Amino acid sequence: MCGIFGYLGNKQASEIIFQGLQRLEYRGYDSAGIAVKNGTGIALEKKKGRIHNLQELSKNLKGTLGIGHTRWATHGEPNDVNAHPHHSTDKKIMIVHNGIIENFSALKEFLNCSCISATDSEVLAHLIQHHYKGNLLEAVRLSLLQVEGTYGLAVMHQHHDEIIIARNGSPLVVGLGKNEYIISSDLAAIAPHTKKYFCLDDKQIGKLTPSGYEVKDLENSAITKELERITWDVKSIEKKGFSHFMLKEIFEQPASLKNCFRGRITNDEIKVTLNLDDAFIKSINRIILVGCGTSWHSALVAEYAMEKTLNIPVEVEYASEFRYRNPILHENDLVVVISQSGETADTLAALKEAKKHCKTIGIINVVGSTIAREAGSGIYIHAGPEIGVASTKAFTGQILGLLLLALYIDEKREKTANLKTIKDALDNLEEHIKAILEKNEDIKKIAEAYYNSTNFLFLGRGSNFPVALEGALKLKEISYIHAEGYPAAEMKHGPIALIDEHMPVVFIANQNGLHDKIISNMEEVYARKGSIIALTTDDRELKKYTKHIITVPETIDLLQPILNSIPLQLLAYHIAVLKNLDPDKPRNLAKSVTVE
Ligand code: G6P
Repeated sequence: MCGIFGYLGNKQASEIIFQGLQRLEYRGYDSAGIAVKNGTGIALEKKKGRIHNLQELSKNLKGTLGIGHTRWATHGEPNDVNAHPHHSTDKKIMIVHNGIIENFSALKEFLNCSCISATDSEVLAHLIQHHYKGNLLEAVRLSLLQVEGTYGLAVMHQHHDEIIIARNGSPLVVGLGKNEYIISSDLAAIAPHTKKYFCLDDKQIGKLTPSGYEVKDLENSAITKELERITWDVKSIEKKGFSHFMLKEIFEQPASLKNCFRGRITNDEIKVTLNLDDAFIKSINRIILVGCGTSWHSALVAEYAMEKTLNIPVEVEYASEFRYRNPILHENDLVVVISQSGETADTLAALKEAKKHCKTIGIINVVGSTIAREAGSGIYIHAGPEIGVASTKAFTGQILGLLLLALYIDEKREKTANLKTIKDALDNLEEHIKAILEKNEDIKKIAEAYYNSTNFLFLGRGSNFPVALEGALKLKEISYIHAEGYPAAEMKHGPIALIDEHMPVVFIANQNGLHDKIISNMEEVYARKGSIIALTTDDRELKKYTKHIITVPETIDLLQPILNSIPLQLLAYHIAVLKNLDPDKPRNLAKSVTVE
Protein backbone atom coordinates (compact mmCIF):
# COMPACT_ATOMS: atom_id res chain seq x y z
CA MET A 1 0.00 0.00 0.00
CA CYS A 2 1.77 3.08 -1.34
CA GLY A 3 5.10 2.53 -3.04
CA ILE A 4 8.39 4.25 -2.31
CA PHE A 5 11.26 4.37 -4.74
CA GLY A 6 14.50 6.33 -4.55
CA TYR A 7 17.80 6.61 -6.37
CA LEU A 8 21.27 7.89 -5.50
CA GLY A 9 24.07 7.36 -8.03
CA ASN A 10 25.49 8.69 -11.28
CA LYS A 11 22.48 8.34 -13.59
CA GLN A 12 19.51 10.64 -14.09
CA ALA A 13 17.35 9.83 -11.08
CA SER A 14 13.93 10.86 -12.41
CA GLU A 15 13.88 8.33 -15.23
CA ILE A 16 14.91 5.47 -12.96
CA ILE A 17 12.44 6.54 -10.27
CA PHE A 18 9.63 6.82 -12.83
CA GLN A 19 10.29 3.27 -14.02
CA GLY A 20 10.57 2.05 -10.43
CA LEU A 21 7.24 3.62 -9.54
CA GLN A 22 5.65 1.92 -12.53
CA ARG A 23 6.72 -1.42 -11.08
CA LEU A 24 5.33 -0.43 -7.69
CA GLU A 25 2.07 0.90 -9.10
CA TYR A 26 0.20 -2.21 -7.95
CA ARG A 27 0.69 -0.87 -4.38
CA GLY A 28 -1.45 2.19 -5.07
CA TYR A 29 -2.34 4.36 -8.01
CA ASP A 30 -4.24 7.39 -6.74
CA SER A 31 -1.40 9.83 -7.37
CA ALA A 32 2.35 9.87 -7.83
CA GLY A 33 5.24 12.25 -7.37
CA ILE A 34 9.00 12.58 -7.73
CA ALA A 35 11.49 15.01 -6.11
CA VAL A 36 15.04 15.36 -7.46
CA LYS A 37 17.95 17.32 -6.04
CA ASN A 38 19.37 19.63 -8.69
CA GLY A 39 22.14 22.25 -8.61
CA THR A 40 20.05 24.87 -6.84
CA GLY A 41 17.55 23.03 -4.66
CA ILE A 42 14.99 20.25 -4.95
CA ALA A 43 12.60 20.16 -7.90
CA LEU A 44 9.25 18.48 -7.35
CA GLU A 45 6.54 17.16 -9.65
CA LYS A 46 3.41 15.37 -8.46
CA LYS A 47 0.13 14.58 -10.03
CA LYS A 48 -3.21 12.99 -9.22
CA GLY A 49 -3.99 9.72 -11.01
CA ARG A 50 -1.91 6.96 -12.51
CA ILE A 51 1.85 7.17 -12.81
CA HIS A 52 1.88 7.72 -16.57
CA ASN A 53 0.45 11.20 -15.84
CA LEU A 54 3.87 11.99 -14.44
CA GLN A 55 5.90 10.84 -17.41
CA GLU A 56 6.24 14.17 -19.20
CA LEU A 57 6.53 16.21 -16.01
CA SER A 58 9.29 14.03 -14.61
CA LYS A 59 11.48 14.88 -17.62
CA ASN A 60 11.86 18.38 -16.09
CA LEU A 61 13.69 16.90 -13.14
CA LYS A 62 17.46 16.80 -13.62
CA GLY A 63 19.78 15.35 -11.02
CA THR A 64 21.19 12.09 -9.72
CA LEU A 65 19.51 11.88 -6.31
CA GLY A 66 15.78 11.67 -5.79
CA ILE A 67 12.77 10.02 -4.18
CA GLY A 68 9.35 9.09 -5.54
CA HIS A 69 6.04 7.74 -4.36
CA THR A 70 2.86 6.16 -5.67
CA ARG A 71 -0.09 6.65 -3.33
CA TRP A 72 -3.07 4.70 -2.08
CA ALA A 73 -5.05 7.35 -0.24
CA THR A 74 -5.83 6.91 3.45
CA HIS A 75 -5.92 10.44 4.93
CA GLY A 76 -7.04 12.98 2.37
CA GLU A 77 -8.60 12.43 -1.03
CA PRO A 78 -6.51 11.60 -4.09
CA ASN A 79 -5.43 14.98 -5.51
CA ASP A 80 -2.24 16.82 -6.48
CA VAL A 81 -1.76 18.45 -3.07
CA ASN A 82 -2.11 15.22 -1.10
CA ALA A 83 0.31 13.43 -3.43
CA HIS A 84 3.80 12.72 -2.05
CA PRO A 85 6.58 13.88 -1.79
CA HIS A 86 5.67 16.38 0.94
CA HIS A 87 8.00 19.17 1.99
CA SER A 88 8.87 21.23 5.04
CA THR A 89 7.82 24.87 5.24
CA ASP A 90 11.26 26.00 4.02
CA LYS A 91 10.96 23.46 1.16
CA LYS A 92 14.47 22.18 1.93
CA ILE A 93 13.27 18.79 3.20
CA MET A 94 11.25 16.31 1.12
CA ILE A 95 9.71 13.10 2.41
CA VAL A 96 7.86 10.12 0.98
CA HIS A 97 5.97 7.98 3.45
CA ASN A 98 4.12 4.68 3.43
CA GLY A 99 2.05 3.75 6.49
CA ILE A 100 0.00 5.80 8.94
CA ILE A 101 1.19 8.42 11.43
CA GLU A 102 -1.40 7.78 14.11
CA ASN A 103 -0.52 10.77 16.29
CA PHE A 104 -0.34 13.24 13.41
CA SER A 105 -2.88 15.60 15.04
CA ALA A 106 -0.89 15.73 18.28
CA LEU A 107 2.32 16.35 16.31
CA LYS A 108 0.69 19.19 14.38
CA GLU A 109 -0.36 20.74 17.66
CA PHE A 110 3.13 20.25 19.09
CA LEU A 111 4.68 22.00 16.10
CA ASN A 112 1.91 24.55 15.85
CA CYS A 113 2.28 24.25 12.11
CA SER A 114 -0.26 24.42 9.34
CA CYS A 115 -0.07 21.69 6.75
CA ILE A 116 -1.08 22.35 3.17
CA SER A 117 -2.28 18.79 2.54
CA ALA A 118 -4.89 16.67 4.32
CA THR A 119 -2.45 13.81 4.79
CA ASP A 120 -1.07 12.37 8.00
CA SER A 121 2.35 12.20 6.33
CA GLU A 122 3.12 15.86 5.74
CA VAL A 123 3.63 16.56 9.43
CA LEU A 124 6.76 14.39 9.28
CA ALA A 125 8.46 16.90 6.97
CA HIS A 126 7.71 19.70 9.45
CA LEU A 127 8.83 17.61 12.40
CA ILE A 128 12.15 16.83 10.73
CA GLN A 129 12.64 20.53 9.96
CA HIS A 130 11.96 21.25 13.65
CA HIS A 131 14.72 18.85 14.75
CA TYR A 132 17.19 19.69 11.98
CA LYS A 133 20.41 21.27 13.26
CA GLY A 134 22.70 20.34 10.35
CA ASN A 135 22.53 16.53 10.70
CA LEU A 136 19.65 15.06 8.69
CA LEU A 137 19.99 11.50 10.01
CA GLU A 138 19.79 12.76 13.58
CA ALA A 139 16.82 15.00 12.79
CA VAL A 140 14.92 12.04 11.32
CA ARG A 141 15.87 9.83 14.26
CA LEU A 142 14.67 12.38 16.82
CA SER A 143 11.46 12.86 14.84
CA LEU A 144 10.71 9.15 14.69
CA LEU A 145 11.09 8.86 18.45
CA GLN A 146 8.00 11.08 18.63
CA VAL A 147 6.00 9.17 16.02
CA GLU A 148 3.29 6.64 16.79
CA GLY A 149 2.28 4.54 13.83
CA THR A 150 3.83 2.79 10.88
CA TYR A 151 6.25 4.01 8.32
CA GLY A 152 8.42 3.20 5.37
CA LEU A 153 10.14 6.53 4.94
CA ALA A 154 12.66 8.23 2.64
CA VAL A 155 13.89 11.75 3.29
CA MET A 156 16.16 14.12 1.38
CA HIS A 157 17.50 17.60 2.10
CA GLN A 158 18.57 20.29 -0.29
CA HIS A 159 21.97 20.63 1.43
CA HIS A 160 22.88 16.94 1.72
CA ASP A 161 23.91 14.38 -0.89
CA GLU A 162 22.13 11.65 1.00
CA ILE A 163 18.86 9.80 1.41
CA ILE A 164 17.70 8.91 4.90
CA ILE A 165 15.49 5.85 5.15
CA ALA A 166 13.51 4.33 8.01
CA ARG A 167 11.06 1.56 8.57
CA ASN A 168 8.43 0.52 11.07
CA GLY A 169 5.79 -1.85 9.76
CA SER A 170 6.03 -0.83 6.10
CA PRO A 171 8.70 -2.53 4.01
CA LEU A 172 11.80 -0.85 2.67
CA VAL A 173 14.63 -2.55 0.80
CA VAL A 174 17.92 -1.09 -0.35
CA GLY A 175 19.54 -2.35 -3.54
CA LEU A 176 23.31 -1.96 -3.84
CA GLY A 177 24.37 -1.40 -7.45
CA LYS A 178 27.66 -0.24 -8.89
CA ASN A 179 28.20 3.19 -7.32
CA GLU A 180 24.48 3.52 -6.77
CA TYR A 181 21.73 2.77 -4.27
CA ILE A 182 18.15 2.01 -5.13
CA ILE A 183 15.51 2.09 -2.42
CA SER A 184 12.13 0.51 -2.88
CA SER A 185 9.08 -0.85 -1.11
CA ASP A 186 9.67 -4.20 -2.76
CA LEU A 187 12.36 -6.28 -4.36
CA ALA A 188 10.65 -6.54 -7.74
CA ALA A 189 11.34 -2.87 -8.44
CA ILE A 190 15.06 -3.04 -7.65
CA ALA A 191 15.65 -6.34 -9.47
CA PRO A 192 16.28 -4.71 -12.89
CA HIS A 193 19.16 -2.71 -11.32
CA THR A 194 20.89 -5.08 -8.95
CA LYS A 195 20.54 -8.45 -7.25
CA LYS A 196 22.35 -7.37 -4.04
CA TYR A 197 20.17 -5.89 -1.32
CA PHE A 198 19.37 -5.58 2.35
CA CYS A 199 16.04 -5.04 4.09
CA LEU A 200 15.56 -2.56 6.87
CA ASP A 201 13.90 -4.08 9.93
CA ASP A 202 11.37 -2.33 12.11
CA LYS A 203 12.64 0.72 14.02
CA GLN A 204 15.80 0.90 11.95
CA ILE A 205 17.05 4.01 10.23
CA GLY A 206 19.74 4.37 7.58
CA LYS A 207 21.79 6.90 5.65
CA LEU A 208 22.84 6.36 2.04
CA THR A 209 25.54 8.63 0.60
CA PRO A 210 27.78 8.42 -2.49
CA SER A 211 30.57 7.11 -0.25
CA GLY A 212 28.68 4.43 1.67
CA TYR A 213 25.81 3.63 3.99
CA GLU A 214 25.13 3.19 7.66
CA VAL A 215 22.20 1.67 9.54
CA LYS A 216 21.31 2.14 13.20
CA ASP A 217 18.38 1.64 15.49
CA LEU A 218 16.33 4.48 16.87
CA GLU A 219 18.39 4.35 20.09
CA ASN A 220 21.45 5.23 18.00
CA SER A 221 23.24 1.86 18.11
CA ALA A 222 24.98 0.87 14.87
CA ILE A 223 23.63 -2.20 13.04
CA THR A 224 25.44 -4.37 10.52
CA LYS A 225 23.16 -5.50 7.70
CA GLU A 226 23.61 -8.90 6.08
CA LEU A 227 23.54 -8.51 2.30
CA GLU A 228 21.13 -10.83 0.49
CA ARG A 229 20.75 -11.78 -3.19
CA ILE A 230 17.68 -11.89 -5.40
CA THR A 231 17.50 -15.44 -6.67
CA TRP A 232 14.56 -15.24 -9.09
CA ASP A 233 14.67 -14.23 -12.72
CA VAL A 234 13.89 -10.60 -13.52
CA LYS A 235 11.83 -11.82 -16.51
CA SER A 236 9.24 -13.11 -14.06
CA ILE A 237 8.10 -9.52 -13.47
CA GLU A 238 7.55 -8.80 -17.19
CA LYS A 239 4.23 -9.37 -18.98
CA LYS A 240 5.88 -11.72 -21.52
CA GLY A 241 3.43 -10.93 -24.32
CA PHE A 242 0.28 -11.24 -22.22
CA SER A 243 -2.06 -8.26 -22.33
CA HIS A 244 -2.22 -8.11 -18.53
CA PHE A 245 -0.28 -9.43 -15.57
CA MET A 246 -3.45 -11.10 -14.30
CA LEU A 247 -3.79 -13.19 -17.45
CA LYS A 248 -0.11 -14.06 -17.39
CA GLU A 249 -0.36 -15.10 -13.76
CA ILE A 250 -3.44 -17.27 -14.44
CA PHE A 251 -1.49 -18.97 -17.22
CA GLU A 252 1.52 -19.47 -14.96
CA GLN A 253 -0.39 -21.82 -12.66
CA PRO A 254 0.81 -25.11 -14.19
CA ALA A 255 4.35 -24.00 -13.31
CA SER A 256 3.68 -22.07 -10.11
CA LEU A 257 1.89 -25.02 -8.52
CA LYS A 258 4.64 -27.36 -9.57
CA ASN A 259 7.15 -25.02 -7.93
CA CYS A 260 5.12 -25.27 -4.75
CA PHE A 261 5.17 -29.05 -4.40
CA ARG A 262 8.38 -29.93 -6.26
CA GLY A 263 10.77 -31.81 -3.98
CA ARG A 264 8.36 -31.60 -1.07
CA ILE A 265 6.34 -34.78 -1.52
CA THR A 266 7.36 -38.34 -2.32
CA ASN A 267 5.29 -41.51 -2.20
CA ASP A 268 6.02 -41.86 1.48
CA GLU A 269 7.34 -38.56 2.82
CA ILE A 270 6.60 -34.85 3.10
CA LYS A 271 9.77 -32.79 3.01
CA VAL A 272 9.23 -29.41 4.55
CA THR A 273 11.19 -27.82 7.37
CA LEU A 274 9.08 -26.41 10.13
CA ASN A 275 10.10 -25.19 13.52
CA LEU A 276 7.68 -27.57 15.25
CA ASP A 277 8.89 -30.54 17.23
CA ASP A 278 7.21 -33.91 16.91
CA ALA A 279 5.88 -33.86 20.48
CA PHE A 280 4.13 -30.56 19.83
CA ILE A 281 2.68 -31.78 16.54
CA LYS A 282 1.26 -34.82 18.30
CA SER A 283 -0.30 -32.55 20.91
CA ILE A 284 -2.05 -30.13 18.54
CA ASN A 285 -5.69 -29.79 19.55
CA ARG A 286 -6.81 -27.12 17.15
CA ILE A 287 -5.54 -25.32 14.06
CA ILE A 288 -6.53 -21.72 13.40
CA LEU A 289 -6.03 -20.35 9.89
CA VAL A 290 -5.82 -16.56 9.66
CA GLY A 291 -5.71 -14.28 6.62
CA CYS A 292 -7.42 -11.50 4.66
CA GLY A 293 -9.18 -11.33 1.30
CA THR A 294 -8.23 -14.09 -1.08
CA SER A 295 -5.86 -15.57 1.48
CA TRP A 296 -8.82 -16.00 3.82
CA HIS A 297 -10.63 -17.86 1.05
CA SER A 298 -7.70 -20.21 0.56
CA ALA A 299 -7.89 -20.93 4.29
CA LEU A 300 -11.59 -21.77 3.95
CA VAL A 301 -10.80 -24.22 1.15
CA ALA A 302 -8.01 -25.78 3.19
CA GLU A 303 -10.23 -26.13 6.26
CA TYR A 304 -12.07 -28.97 4.53
CA ALA A 305 -8.90 -30.77 3.48
CA MET A 306 -7.22 -30.29 6.85
CA GLU A 307 -10.12 -31.52 8.94
CA LYS A 308 -10.57 -34.50 6.66
CA THR A 309 -6.88 -35.41 6.73
CA LEU A 310 -6.08 -34.65 10.34
CA ASN A 311 -9.30 -35.10 12.27
CA ILE A 312 -8.39 -31.95 14.22
CA PRO A 313 -10.83 -29.01 14.47
CA VAL A 314 -9.79 -26.23 12.12
CA GLU A 315 -11.07 -22.67 12.46
CA VAL A 316 -10.70 -19.90 9.91
CA GLU A 317 -10.48 -16.28 11.03
CA TYR A 318 -10.33 -12.89 9.37
CA ALA A 319 -7.05 -11.42 10.63
CA SER A 320 -8.72 -8.05 11.25
CA GLU A 321 -11.28 -9.61 13.59
CA PHE A 322 -8.95 -12.09 15.24
CA ARG A 323 -6.41 -9.46 16.27
CA TYR A 324 -8.85 -7.39 18.31
CA ARG A 325 -10.94 -10.13 19.82
CA ASN A 326 -8.58 -11.26 22.56
CA PRO A 327 -8.69 -14.68 20.93
CA ILE A 328 -8.74 -17.59 23.33
CA LEU A 329 -5.59 -19.50 22.50
CA HIS A 330 -3.90 -22.41 24.22
CA GLU A 331 -0.41 -23.81 23.98
CA ASN A 332 -1.72 -26.79 22.03
CA ASP A 333 -3.17 -24.57 19.32
CA LEU A 334 -1.34 -23.92 16.07
CA VAL A 335 -2.01 -20.60 14.35
CA VAL A 336 -1.26 -20.51 10.63
CA VAL A 337 -1.13 -17.10 8.96
CA ILE A 338 -1.61 -16.96 5.21
CA SER A 339 -0.44 -14.04 3.10
CA GLN A 340 0.69 -13.57 -0.47
CA SER A 341 2.60 -10.35 0.16
CA GLY A 342 3.73 -11.14 3.69
CA GLU A 343 3.05 -7.47 4.50
CA THR A 344 -0.68 -7.25 5.26
CA ALA A 345 -0.99 -5.15 8.41
CA ASP A 346 -3.92 -7.05 9.95
CA THR A 347 -2.33 -10.44 9.31
CA LEU A 348 0.94 -9.27 10.80
CA ALA A 349 -0.82 -7.96 13.90
CA ALA A 350 -2.80 -11.22 14.22
CA LEU A 351 0.47 -13.15 14.03
CA LYS A 352 2.06 -11.02 16.75
CA GLU A 353 -0.97 -11.57 18.98
CA ALA A 354 -0.95 -15.33 18.36
CA LYS A 355 2.77 -15.61 19.07
CA LYS A 356 2.16 -14.51 22.63
CA HIS A 357 0.13 -17.66 23.28
CA CYS A 358 1.04 -20.49 20.92
CA LYS A 359 3.12 -21.74 18.01
CA THR A 360 2.71 -20.07 14.63
CA ILE A 361 3.44 -20.96 11.02
CA GLY A 362 3.33 -18.82 7.87
CA ILE A 363 2.10 -19.79 4.40
CA ILE A 364 3.67 -16.98 2.41
CA ASN A 365 4.59 -16.13 -1.15
CA VAL A 366 7.06 -13.25 -0.86
CA VAL A 367 10.36 -14.59 0.40
CA GLY A 368 11.88 -12.58 3.24
CA SER A 369 8.71 -10.52 3.77
CA THR A 370 7.82 -9.19 7.19
CA ILE A 371 5.28 -11.90 8.04
CA ALA A 372 7.61 -14.63 6.77
CA ARG A 373 10.35 -13.40 9.09
CA GLU A 374 8.03 -12.81 12.02
CA ALA A 375 6.32 -16.21 11.73
CA GLY A 376 9.56 -17.99 12.55
CA SER A 377 8.90 -20.86 10.19
CA GLY A 378 6.51 -21.87 7.48
CA ILE A 379 6.03 -22.88 3.90
CA TYR A 380 6.80 -20.59 1.01
CA ILE A 381 4.39 -21.27 -1.83
CA HIS A 382 6.95 -20.22 -4.48
CA ALA A 383 4.33 -18.81 -6.86
CA GLY A 384 6.81 -16.13 -7.99
CA PRO A 385 6.06 -12.39 -8.05
CA GLU A 386 2.34 -11.69 -8.35
CA ILE A 387 1.77 -8.22 -9.79
CA GLY A 388 -1.95 -8.25 -10.74
CA VAL A 389 -3.89 -6.80 -7.83
CA ALA A 390 -6.42 -9.64 -7.99
CA SER A 391 -4.66 -12.67 -6.57
CA THR A 392 -4.75 -15.79 -8.78
CA LYS A 393 -1.68 -18.01 -8.76
CA ALA A 394 -1.02 -17.16 -5.12
CA PHE A 395 -4.55 -18.38 -4.21
CA THR A 396 -4.05 -21.80 -5.73
CA GLY A 397 -0.52 -21.93 -4.30
CA GLN A 398 -1.85 -21.18 -0.83
CA ILE A 399 -4.36 -24.04 -1.07
CA LEU A 400 -1.51 -26.34 -2.01
CA GLY A 401 0.82 -24.95 0.68
CA LEU A 402 -1.83 -25.57 3.32
CA LEU A 403 -2.36 -29.09 2.02
CA LEU A 404 1.37 -29.78 2.33
CA LEU A 405 1.22 -28.49 5.89
CA ALA A 406 -1.70 -30.81 6.66
CA LEU A 407 0.13 -33.78 5.15
CA TYR A 408 3.28 -32.96 7.12
CA ILE A 409 1.32 -32.84 10.37
CA ASP A 410 -0.47 -36.07 9.42
CA GLU A 411 2.86 -37.79 8.81
CA LYS A 412 3.95 -36.97 12.36
CA ARG A 413 0.63 -38.13 13.81
CA GLU A 414 -1.62 -40.78 12.36
CA LYS A 415 -0.23 -41.20 8.82
CA THR A 416 -3.73 -41.54 7.43
CA ALA A 417 -3.11 -39.90 4.05
CA ASN A 418 -2.17 -41.98 1.06
CA LEU A 419 0.77 -39.93 -0.17
CA LYS A 420 1.18 -41.96 -3.34
CA THR A 421 -2.35 -41.14 -4.50
CA ILE A 422 -1.84 -37.48 -3.70
CA LYS A 423 1.58 -37.40 -5.38
CA ASP A 424 0.13 -39.02 -8.51
CA ALA A 425 -2.66 -36.46 -8.58
CA LEU A 426 -0.17 -33.63 -8.16
CA ASP A 427 1.92 -35.01 -11.00
CA ASN A 428 -1.17 -34.78 -13.23
CA LEU A 429 -2.07 -31.28 -12.09
CA GLU A 430 0.03 -29.53 -14.74
CA GLU A 431 -1.74 -31.33 -17.59
CA HIS A 432 -5.13 -30.76 -16.01
CA ILE A 433 -4.53 -27.02 -15.67
CA LYS A 434 -3.25 -26.79 -19.22
CA ALA A 435 -6.48 -28.45 -20.39
CA ILE A 436 -8.47 -25.79 -18.53
CA LEU A 437 -6.38 -22.97 -19.97
CA GLU A 438 -7.10 -24.32 -23.46
CA LYS A 439 -10.73 -23.43 -22.80
CA ASN A 440 -9.83 -19.76 -22.46
CA GLU A 441 -11.67 -18.79 -25.65
CA ASP A 442 -14.80 -20.73 -24.62
CA ILE A 443 -14.78 -18.97 -21.27
CA LYS A 444 -14.38 -15.64 -23.05
CA LYS A 445 -17.54 -16.42 -25.04
CA ILE A 446 -19.43 -16.99 -21.80
CA ALA A 447 -18.07 -13.65 -20.56
CA GLU A 448 -19.37 -12.01 -23.74
CA ALA A 449 -22.85 -13.29 -22.95
CA TYR A 450 -22.87 -11.88 -19.42
CA TYR A 451 -20.56 -8.89 -19.11
CA ASN A 452 -23.45 -6.44 -19.04
CA SER A 453 -25.06 -8.12 -16.03
CA THR A 454 -25.17 -6.06 -12.87
CA ASN A 455 -25.31 -8.93 -10.36
CA PHE A 456 -23.94 -12.45 -10.13
CA LEU A 457 -24.40 -15.32 -7.71
CA PHE A 458 -21.77 -18.02 -7.25
CA LEU A 459 -22.92 -21.23 -5.57
CA GLY A 460 -21.03 -24.31 -4.43
CA ARG A 461 -21.15 -26.93 -1.72
CA GLY A 462 -18.44 -28.36 0.52
CA SER A 463 -14.99 -27.11 -0.42
CA ASN A 464 -16.56 -25.58 -3.53
CA PHE A 465 -18.37 -23.07 -1.33
CA PRO A 466 -15.14 -21.07 -0.70
CA VAL A 467 -14.35 -21.51 -4.41
CA ALA A 468 -17.69 -19.77 -5.03
CA LEU A 469 -16.73 -17.01 -2.58
CA GLU A 470 -13.43 -16.52 -4.38
CA GLY A 471 -15.12 -16.55 -7.81
CA ALA A 472 -17.45 -13.78 -6.62
CA LEU A 473 -14.59 -11.80 -5.09
CA LYS A 474 -12.52 -11.99 -8.29
CA LEU A 475 -15.47 -10.73 -10.32
CA LYS A 476 -16.38 -7.83 -8.03
CA GLU A 477 -12.74 -6.77 -7.55
CA ILE A 478 -11.97 -6.25 -11.19
CA SER A 479 -15.30 -5.81 -13.01
CA TYR A 480 -17.18 -3.83 -10.30
CA ILE A 481 -20.16 -6.12 -10.80
CA HIS A 482 -21.93 -6.93 -7.56
CA ALA A 483 -21.33 -10.63 -6.92
CA GLU A 484 -21.95 -12.90 -3.96
CA GLY A 485 -20.84 -16.39 -3.13
CA TYR A 486 -23.12 -18.69 -1.15
CA PRO A 487 -23.26 -22.29 -0.06
CA ALA A 488 -25.71 -23.62 -2.67
CA ALA A 489 -28.17 -24.89 -0.08
CA GLU A 490 -28.37 -21.49 1.59
CA MET A 491 -29.81 -19.98 -1.58
CA LYS A 492 -33.32 -20.84 -0.50
CA HIS A 493 -32.84 -18.89 2.74
CA GLY A 494 -32.61 -15.52 1.03
CA PRO A 495 -30.75 -15.11 -2.25
CA ILE A 496 -33.42 -17.03 -4.13
CA ALA A 497 -35.53 -13.85 -3.82
CA LEU A 498 -33.10 -12.20 -6.22
CA ILE A 499 -33.39 -14.77 -8.96
CA ASP A 500 -35.00 -13.72 -12.21
CA GLU A 501 -33.97 -13.75 -15.87
CA HIS A 502 -31.39 -11.00 -15.17
CA MET A 503 -29.45 -12.95 -12.56
CA PRO A 504 -26.61 -15.14 -13.79
CA VAL A 505 -25.87 -17.93 -11.32
CA VAL A 506 -22.55 -19.75 -11.48
CA PHE A 507 -22.81 -23.28 -10.11
CA ILE A 508 -19.72 -25.23 -9.16
CA ALA A 509 -21.23 -28.65 -9.66
CA ASN A 510 -18.66 -31.41 -9.53
CA GLN A 511 -19.41 -35.09 -9.57
CA ASN A 512 -18.93 -35.69 -5.88
CA GLY A 513 -21.06 -36.81 -2.98
CA LEU A 514 -23.12 -33.62 -3.16
CA HIS A 515 -23.76 -33.64 -6.90
CA ASP A 516 -27.44 -34.63 -6.71
CA LYS A 517 -28.08 -31.95 -4.15
CA ILE A 518 -26.54 -29.26 -6.28
CA ILE A 519 -28.64 -30.41 -9.24
CA SER A 520 -31.70 -29.78 -7.06
CA ASN A 521 -30.43 -26.25 -6.36
CA MET A 522 -29.95 -25.78 -10.09
CA GLU A 523 -33.55 -26.87 -10.68
CA GLU A 524 -34.67 -24.15 -8.28
CA VAL A 525 -32.83 -21.48 -10.25
CA TYR A 526 -33.96 -22.91 -13.59
CA ALA A 527 -37.58 -22.86 -12.47
CA ARG A 528 -37.24 -19.14 -11.73
CA LYS A 529 -35.64 -18.37 -15.10
CA GLY A 530 -32.20 -17.50 -13.68
CA SER A 531 -29.37 -17.90 -16.23
CA ILE A 532 -27.08 -20.75 -15.28
CA ILE A 533 -23.35 -21.05 -15.87
CA ALA A 534 -22.18 -24.47 -14.74
CA LEU A 535 -18.70 -25.60 -13.90
CA THR A 536 -18.46 -29.36 -13.73
CA THR A 537 -16.36 -32.44 -14.25
CA ASP A 538 -19.14 -34.14 -16.21
CA ASP A 539 -21.64 -32.13 -18.23
CA ARG A 540 -24.09 -34.92 -19.13
CA GLU A 541 -26.85 -34.05 -16.71
CA LEU A 542 -26.40 -30.32 -16.99
CA LYS A 543 -27.12 -29.65 -20.65
CA LYS A 544 -30.79 -29.47 -19.85
CA TYR A 545 -30.27 -26.37 -17.73
CA THR A 546 -27.78 -24.34 -19.74
CA LYS A 547 -25.56 -24.16 -22.77
CA HIS A 548 -22.91 -22.34 -20.73
CA ILE A 549 -20.99 -25.23 -19.26
CA ILE A 550 -17.29 -25.26 -18.42
CA THR A 551 -15.92 -28.75 -17.91
CA VAL A 552 -12.79 -29.24 -15.85
CA PRO A 553 -10.78 -32.44 -15.44
CA GLU A 554 -11.56 -34.55 -12.40
CA THR A 555 -8.90 -34.99 -9.74
CA ILE A 556 -8.86 -36.05 -6.08
CA ASP A 557 -11.19 -34.10 -3.77
CA LEU A 558 -8.24 -32.42 -2.04
CA LEU A 559 -7.11 -30.78 -5.29
CA GLN A 560 -10.40 -30.26 -7.13
CA PRO A 561 -10.93 -26.72 -5.70
CA ILE A 562 -7.65 -25.67 -7.36
CA LEU A 563 -8.89 -26.78 -10.77
CA ASN A 564 -12.34 -25.29 -10.20
CA SER A 565 -10.94 -21.87 -9.32
CA ILE A 566 -9.07 -21.34 -12.57
CA PRO A 567 -12.05 -20.99 -14.97
CA LEU A 568 -13.59 -18.51 -12.52
CA GLN A 569 -10.41 -16.42 -12.62
CA LEU A 570 -10.61 -16.42 -16.42
CA LEU A 571 -14.32 -15.55 -16.37
CA ALA A 572 -13.70 -12.53 -14.12
CA TYR A 573 -10.71 -11.48 -16.23
CA HIS A 574 -12.62 -11.53 -19.52
CA ILE A 575 -15.64 -9.74 -18.08
CA ALA A 576 -13.38 -6.93 -16.79
CA VAL A 577 -11.60 -6.59 -20.13
CA LEU A 578 -14.91 -6.60 -22.04
CA LYS A 579 -16.04 -3.78 -19.77
CA ASN A 580 -12.91 -1.90 -20.79
CA LEU A 581 -11.46 -2.00 -17.29
CA ASP A 582 -7.86 -2.62 -16.29
CA PRO A 583 -7.92 -5.91 -14.33
CA ASP A 584 -4.37 -5.34 -13.09
CA LYS A 585 -5.23 -2.12 -11.27
CA PRO A 586 -8.86 -2.10 -10.15
CA ARG A 587 -10.15 1.12 -8.65
CA ASN A 588 -9.69 1.73 -4.92
CA LEU A 589 -7.73 -1.49 -4.37
CA ALA A 590 -4.09 -2.13 -3.65
CA LYS A 591 -2.18 -5.35 -3.66
CA SER A 592 -0.31 -4.94 -0.46
CA VAL A 593 -2.46 -3.57 2.35
CA THR A 594 -0.02 -2.29 4.93
CA VAL A 595 -2.56 -0.20 6.82
CA GLU A 596 -5.43 -1.41 9.02
C1 G6P B 1 -5.50 -7.15 -0.74
C2 G6P B 1 -5.35 -7.76 -2.12
C3 G6P B 1 -5.95 -9.16 -2.13
C4 G6P B 1 -5.33 -10.01 -1.03
C5 G6P B 1 -5.44 -9.35 0.33
C6 G6P B 1 -4.59 -10.06 1.37
O1 G6P B 1 -6.84 -6.89 -0.48
O2 G6P B 1 -5.97 -6.95 -3.09
O3 G6P B 1 -5.73 -9.77 -3.39
O4 G6P B 1 -5.94 -11.26 -1.00
O5 G6P B 1 -4.96 -8.00 0.27
O6 G6P B 1 -3.24 -9.93 0.99
P1 G6P B 1 -2.10 -10.92 1.38
O7 G6P B 1 -0.88 -10.34 0.71
O8 G6P B 1 -1.99 -10.89 2.87
O9 G6P B 1 -2.44 -12.25 0.87
